[in-house]
Amino acid sequence: MMLLAGYYEQEDDMNKIEVNRISKTLEGLSTLAEISLTVGKNEIVVVLGPSGCGKSTLLNIVAGLLRPDTGQIFIDGEDWTGKTTRVSYMQQKDLLLDSRNVLDNVTIPLLLKGMSKNQARTCAASYFADFGLQGFEHYYPRQLSGGMRQRAALLRTYLFASDILLLDEPFAALDAITRRRMQLWLLDLYQRYKSSILFVTHDIEEALLLADRIYILGSRPAVVRREMAWDRNSPLSPQTREEILEILEEESNGGNF
Ligand SMILES: Nc1ncnc2c1ncn2[C@@H]1O[C@H](COP(=O)(O)OP(=O)(O)OP(=O)(O)O)[C@@H](O)[C@H]1O
Ligand SMILES: [Mg+2]
Repeated sequence: MMLLAGYYEQEDDMNKIEVNRISKTLEGLSTLAEISLTVGKNEIVVVLGPSGCGKSTLLNIVAGLLRPDTGQIFIDGEDWTGKTTRVSYMQQKDLLLDSRNVLDNVTIPLLLKGMSKNQARTCAASYFADFGLQGFEHYYPRQLSGGMRQRAALLRTYLFASDILLLDEPFAALDAITRRRMQLWLLDLYQRYKSSILFVTHDIEEALLLADRIYILGSRPAVVRREMAWDRNSPLSPQTREEILEILEEESNGGNF
């Protein structure tokens, strides 16, 4: 298997992502207010917040697709505010191209990096088994199940930049059982490949299962209400779950749910 990690070396104690006091107003409404957060090396950080609170807006800013009004995004200590191409980003919609088969969908980032078609296909194909896609290389997106489409989109995201992934509610559209399987599969993949992951969701159970740390966002405008960290391998106290639920309930009051 070709190794993609290690493209970007860094000091171990440096944060992979540092979001520094980001604010954004959209159509006259203050959407994000002074949001600060960090993602460390090989850490899964979950941003948990009610529907419509500004999670995708925040990821668009971290990805460099949208400029904040104030604040900065640092990646490995360098200012990347408003600049794309450093991190990989899986947007809320999977954006697979219907006219290309799975293999040719996931090779797109490798072609953009200058690999030849053959090199890109060989490299991408070596990941198909781990991403649960083996045997489906020549299928078209419309022929895949929802979970497979998401795994294909995730592989394409990973091949763009393997060390930092931004994932926007990647499993939200799946049925409960498939979603659970995908979450466990992602954890398993993470144990083997390691990346720094900023994962956005409005689903508390998903956040509790995946996160090393979570940031709970309030809405209108979104602010960081709480930051919490725990050991993923130890049982979570019922109090922690209650505390998180209480904040989410407060924030959803009168909201658009
Ligand atoms: N380009 C835009 N122009 C104006 N308003 C926008 C734009 N994008 C989002 N909004 C508004 O900003 C707010 C936050 O939207 P955003 O999509 O970031 O929320 P979200 O937390 O990702 O929601 P969801 O849980 O539904 O995905 C919403 O009220 C939305 O209507
Ligand atoms: Mg969103």
